[in-house]
Amino acid sequence: MGRPLQLLMLALMLSTAHAAEQSIEVLHWWTAGGEAKAANLLKQRWQAQGNRWVDAAIDGGGGGSAMLVLRSRTLAGNPPQAAHLKGAELHAWARLGFLRPVSDVARRGQWDMRLYPFVSSTLNHQGQMMAVPIGIHRVNWLWINQPIFDRLKLEPPRSWPELLAVARRLKAAGITPLAMGDDPWQLAILFESIALGEGGSDFYRRAFVNLEPDALTGPRMQQVLLRFHSLRPFLPANHVGLKWNQATQMLIEGQAAMQLMGDWTKGELIAAGEIPGQRIRCLPAPGTTGRFSYNLDSLALFRQTNDASDQAQQRFAELLMTPEFQRDFNRVKGSIPVLAEMDLAGFDPCARLAGQALQRAERDGSLVPSVAEGMATPPRVQQALQEVLANYFSDADADAATTAARLAQTIKAVQSEWQPGVE
Ligand code: GAL
Repeated sequence: MGRPLQLLMLALMLSTAHAAEQSIEVLHWWTAGGEAKAANLLKQRWQAQGNRWVDAAIDGGGGGSAMLVLRSRTLAGNPPQAAHLKGAELHAWARLGFLRPVSDVARRGQWDMRLYPFVSSTLNHQGQMMAVPIGIHRVNWLWINQPIFDRLKLEPPRSWPELLAVARRLKAAGITPLAMGDDPWQLAILFESIALGEGGSDFYRRAFVNLEPDALTGPRMQQVLLRFHSLRPFLPANHVGLKWNQATQMLIEGQAAMQLMGDWTKGELIAAGEIPGQRIRCLPAPGTTGRFSYNLDSLALFRQTNDASDQAQQRFAELLMTPEFQRDFNRVKGSIPVLAEMDLAGFDPCARLAGQALQRAERDGSLVPSVAEGMATPPRVQQALQEVLANYFSDADADAATTAARLAQTIKAVQSEWQPGVE
């Protein structure tokens, strides 16, 4: 082969490598209005750098279906290059060895000096950074339709007894008090908000992080269960199968007065042209002022066998951590940036409140991982807990003491059958 031909072949090889290097397939479940806009922003920023985006969006709030698809694809030897993986589920994948740690990118970008400390520790697996953090969601929020409250001369509830009193008045006036579906994870958000509001962060941690049998079965847990159960009459008539974002639409349209949900709800509000904190207001879930239950969104990278693909992943990880991307993405998604250095001046009022609450909670030790969002317990424990809670909630005659005992027993059973790496 003559030298010019050799050079031409080399150039061709390099350009193919370059093209491959630019492509990223991302698996996620950001398909609701606001979520899809945020995912689209990420896609556009990546494409603007001359890259290719392959979308693997799997419908279903909370990500249950996305996780099933991820498992079957990975077992078939065809994982995506990146996936929305977070909390305990991320650690389970890390233990199985499928993930590419991002410690090298983190070192180059000095992430440890820039991230909130709890973000680094959440993503740390045996000394390695296992995913790129994208945004911090506060889970313990109550959203209210202020015009309804004004019309009925109601005060926003600051405690759970106040919320029940307000709910009764709303119901008497023919308005659905609480917009909410029957997904176990939606119910778990309600339940953990009550536990945090009425039990406080120490109780919350003893029960859901340390899984202490006394905390799981004791009188405080029984009270939390009773309170949870007492909200049954205040859900929409069509609550079976109601998705979280459909519940938010009910709130926006004034068919319901309140919703308890993490601040991805804001993505829906913004997509509907609302300014969060105005007509639809954000308040800490009753009793949780200054407390912060977090859901840390992160993207994990799956190990690649070719170098070009690995290079693309590194570029992708770098993009996610730029302040510009963090600012723009989180403003659409409803979360706040993971970079502690960032000023929230241009963010909506609810994001600014979340930022203040986060700093205060970090200082006071009131920052807790959300159970419903998979931040607190291994996936199987979370699933068992949510099943017990959903059964309890759907049964009009269920008993709190029996349910508390069942919670502790079920968790114990799952823990003893659980072995690291085989979740
Ligand atoms: C969470 C996810 C959020 C949000 C929500 C609803 O699990 O972390 O980003 O999208 O589900 O789908």
